[in-house]
Amino acid sequence: MSLRLGRLELSSRVVQSPLAACSDLPFRLIAREHGMGYGFLEMVSAQSLTRDNGKTLRLLRTAPGDRPLGAQLLGGEPEVMAEAARILEDRGFDAVDLNLGCPVKKVVGNGEGAALLADPGRAEKIFAAVRRAVRRVPVTVKMRTGFQDASGDEAVELARRAEAQGLAAVTVHGRTQAQQYAGRADYAAIGKVKRAVAIPVIGNGDVLAPEDARRLFEVSGCDGVMIGRGGLGNPWVYRGLDAALAGEAAPPPPSVAERKAVLLKHLALEVEHCGERLANLNMRRITVWYTAGLPNAKTLRVAVCQAAQTGAVRALIEEFFDRLPAGVPPPTAPLLLAE
Ligand SMILES: Cc1cc2nc3c(=O)[nH]c(=O)nc-3n(C[C@H](O)[C@H](O)[C@H](O)COP(=O)(O)O)c2cc1C
Repeated sequence: MSLRLGRLELSSRVVQSPLAACSDLPFRLIAREHGMGYGFLEMVSAQSLTRDNGKTLRLLRTAPGDRPLGAQLLGGEPEVMAEAARILEDRGFDAVDLNLGCPVKKVVGNGEGAALLADPGRAEKIFAAVRRAVRRVPVTVKMRTGFQDASGDEAVELARRAEAQGLAAVTVHGRTQAQQYAGRADYAAIGKVKRAVAIPVIGNGDVLAPEDARRLFEVSGCDGVMIGRGGLGNPWVYRGLDAALAGEAAPPPPSVAERKAVLLKHLALEVEHCGERLANLNMRRITVWYTAGLPNAKTLRVAVCQAAQTGAVRALIEEFFDRLPAGVPPPTAPLLLAE
C-alpha cells in the first residue's frame, strides 16, 4: 500500500524522518539502497537559508537517485518561512515540511520549532504564508502532541489549521515538548489527530521494529509511519517494516559480512561527499550506530575517535567485524536522546 502526500505518491508507507547532523547525503544513499522510500534532509533554518549561509546551503546537497526527498524548515516568521520555502521548491525538493517539534531550549526560546505548538495563531500564519509561496510541491508539517499538554488536543487544533490552509499531511511525534525524549511515545494521542482531519497523518515515535509499527497503526489508525532513530546504522529496517505492513515474512537479518560491507560503504560515501576531515569526524558517530549492541563496540569507538585519518578508521572497522564471534545480535539502533 502506498501513501499520497498531495501530488506526491510514495511507494511505501514507511518514511525516514529528518535527523539533524545524521540524515545527510551518505546516510540517505545507503538507506535508499536498502529500500527507504522517502527521506528528508535534516532541518534547515529559514533565516540562514534566506541569507545564503554557506553552511546551510551545504545541508541541501543531494545526488541523482536521492529522490523522493523532502526538505524541512525551522523558523518562526511567516514571511521568512515563505521565502525559504520558495527557495526549496525552486531547488527541486519534492516536499517542504515545517518543523513544529524541535524541543531544544534555544530554538524554543526563539519562538521556533515546538514553541509554535503553544502559538497556534502564529503557526497558522506560517502555514498560510508558505502555502501561498509554494504551489508546485506539497507542504507538510511535523509536530509533537503538544507543548506541555500531553492529551493531543494541541496537535488536533494545529492539524485542523494545517488542513484548512491546504497542507498535504501531518506527522505527529507522540511526545510533548516538555517530555523531550522521555517515556514512551503516545500512539493514542496520535489517533486523536488522525480522527480530526482528512489529510494523511503519519505517526512517529519509538518505532524500531515491525511490532512497533503494527502497534502504531493499530492504536492510532495512522496512514504512514515515520522512523527516526530506528534508521541509524540499520538500513535493513525499511524492508523489514515494509514486509511486516504487507503481511509478508520478514527478510533474513543481514550477515556480519554484509554489515561490515555497508559500514565501509558508508565510510566511502562520507569521504566522497563530505571530504576527508569531516568524514573522519562523522565516522565517530556513524560507527556507534552500526555497532550498537555488539561485543567490544566500546573499544572500537574509542579507537575510531583517536584515528587521525579515515584509512585508519577503515582498518579498525575491518578488524572489528572480522573478529566478531558467531551469533551476534541483529542490528539495533542506538537510542540517541539529543536532537
Ligand atoms: C539526533 C536527532 C536529530 C533530530 N533532528 C530532527 C530534525 O532535524 N527535524 C525533526 O523534525 N526532527 C528531528 N528529530 C526528531 C526525530 O525526527 C523524531 O521525531 C524523533 O526522534 C522520534 O522518532 P524516533 O523515536 O523514531 O526516533 C531528531 C531526533 C534526533 C534523535
